[in-house]
Amino acid sequence: MSNLTFGIIKPDAVRAGNHGKIIAKVLANGFKIRGMKLIHQSLKDAEGFYAVHAERPFFGELTEFMSSGPCVVLALEKENAVPAWRELMGATNPAEAAEGTLRKEFATSIGENAVHGSDSDENAAIEIAYFFSKLELV
Ligand code: CMP
Repeated sequence: MSNLTFGIIKPDAVRAGNHGKIIAKVLANGFKIRGMKLIHQSLKDAEGFYAVHAERPFFGELTEFMSSGPCVVLALEKENAVPAWRELMGATNPAEAAEGTLRKEFATSIGENAVHGSDSDENAAIEIAYFFSKLELV
């Protein structure tokens, strides 16, 4: 199990001004921030990032939303980082997210669900490399 994962504070959460609160919770839950920046993805950037979902019916909606405004990308360190970050995020659908999770507090729908997290160590490494250069990781 790796100690690194990748996260995004999505455009809905940044638009609502919740990125500061989310970063505070990231730190309060024992994650170290190894990389962080505010970016505004183009549609092509989002399509590249979510290429594994290209065949899904919601791909257009997802990539348009992810390129609709600024988001915060994060490289996070903690023991068992991938499951630890997924636990803090909560279920993809906020209606199913547990009390105390980020999606319970900040997400509004399955599409606009405030945060993203890698689903495996392998994808965490790919996703960190998609957004961060070596110089941007401390
Ligand atoms: P994320 O963890 O960023 O990875 C894929 C995203 O697709 C997921 O979060 C959801 O926000 C989004 N997604 C999943 N199912 C749907 C759906 N039915 N409609 C719109 N977006 C979805």
